[in-house]
Amino acid sequence: AKFTRINQETCIACGACGASAPEIFDYNAEGIAFVLLDDNQGIEEVPEDLYDDLEDAVDGCPTDSIKVSTQPIELQEI
Ligand code: F3S
Repeated sequence: AKFTRINQETCIACGACGASAPEIFDYNAEGIAFVLLDDNQGIEEVPEDLYDDLEDAVDGCPTDSIKVSTQPIELQEI
């Protein structure tokens, strides 16, 4: 299983992740990314058919703000 979460402290609203993985990531009013699946809680499994999109997004983020884990991602891990 994979879980993902955006570190919104380091996201610079570049907009790359939503282009790579529009079913996983969207942006708030300030352009900061969040995970659509669970409102950026890091608790909802990413569907396997979106793994390639997720990998593209991780590789494309200039600030390394997209966290991915095999476990649900707690706030303090970010
Ligand atoms: Fe932010 Fe990285 Fe996405 S900077 S908008 S999390 S690609």
